[in-house]
Amino acid sequence: MEDGELFEFDQAVQPVLEDHSTVSAGGDGGGGAGCLRAQQRAFQELRNSELAEVQRLQEPERRHSEEKAHGIAQQKKALEEEKEIAEKMAARACTQTLLADLPPRVFTLLRTHGFFYDPVEKDELDNLLVDNRKVMLQSIAADLRASLPLDAMLPSETATHLKMQQQPQPTVHVDAFLYDEEQVDALCEDGTMSRTYCLNCGSHRTAPLDFISHSFSVSELQFLFQNVLPDLSGRTLVDVGSRLGAVLYGGFVYSSAARLIGLELSEEFVKLQNNILHKYRLTDRVQVLHADVCTQDSLLHSADVLVMNNVFEYFMEPSEQVRAWRFIMQTFRRTGSLLVTVPSLQDSLNALQEALQPGWVEELPVDYDVYLSRDTDADALRQIHLYRVM
Ligand SMILES: C[S@@+](CC[C@H](N)C(=O)[O-])C[C@H]1O[C@@H](n2cnc3c(N)ncnc32)[C@H](O)[C@@H]1O
Repeated sequence: MEDGELFEFDQAVQPVLEDHSTVSAGGDGGGGAGCLRAQQRAFQELRNSELAEVQRLQEPERRHSEEKAHGIAQQKKALEEEKEIAEKMAARACTQTLLADLPPRVFTLLRTHGFFYDPVEKDELDNLLVDNRKVMLQSIAADLRASLPLDAMLPSETATHLKMQQQPQPTVHVDAFLYDEEQVDALCEDGTMSRTYCLNCGSHRTAPLDFISHSFSVSELQFLFQNVLPDLSGRTLVDVGSRLGAVLYGGFVYSSAARLIGLELSEEFVKLQNNILHKYRLTDRVQVLHADVCTQDSLLHSADVLVMNNVFEYFMEPSEQVRAWRFIMQTFRRTGSLLVTVPSLQDSLNALQEALQPGWVEELPVDYDVYLSRDTDADALRQIHLYRVM
């Protein structure tokens, strides 16, 4: 049988010719027709069996093509679904960015144009803006509150306690990262905390207490990372005197900084921060060192951003503060690196009668006129200053 033929020609055709010869030879016509039918039936059966064989042989190939087509269709569908998900995610991220930016801008615009706004409506908007990042910071604050006394100071901080007692106005420490305005109000209402002190013991004459905070509040952190500093992707930020770690946690949630490093003199605070870093799995980007900043030359050489939130005033003697500032002015010198201070460099150095090294840094403008949330302390934001190393 030739390639591509469905039957054996000789075998199939020969009996028909034989049968014709029988008929033309004048033999029995009825017997010849019967024989012909039998041969046709045999031929038909043979043909059917050959067709069945061909179909059997073609079946795997047909099934393979069918499976292949099905696979291609499935893959195409999966790719389309993947594309659709990616588009949805991009749209969601875009919307989030736009929306996150929109209310503060709208409020800034309204405020700067002198429009009234409905405080109830504004509060509702604030509630809507509570995002996951804030929730995480609030959860960290709750953990820290549980491990610290109400004033969030350690008994070992005797010099700091003493300094606060020596302030011209009676001063108490309320850590702004741990307690927001609402929480302070609630604590004052139930008598746990007081905003005033008694002028004559036993009388009703009272005067307001001065509150200071040794940490940035959540609003200040948001302002610092979203409005003061540029994009920190791939950058290293060092928080000098990281204390409870507020700047590090804030930097983790509000920035893309590659490394956030805290330096802290107090070993107890270093332990506290490390507990949080492990509990919240922040250790891939955040690290805390138990060290005096004055021993960290190489870290200061490599840092892109240095944050100094009132680091020395309550924690070091004036002569030590001068030594520390001189070290920083001599060591943190890479052109373009950024320095954030609270209060301004001028205020810190003037208080110590120390001169700012000429040509070290230039102050960069900061837009303080932004709306963040109802409990943002605008005066506290204005204490945040940004400098660029020249
Ligand atoms: C006001 S707190 C800053 C808190 C934190 N950076 C923030 O903004 O939330 C200052 C901290 O600096 C620490 N400190 C003071 N002098 C230091 C030094 N020379 N090196 C490292 N840490 C220091 C103190 O122990 C204190 O915990």
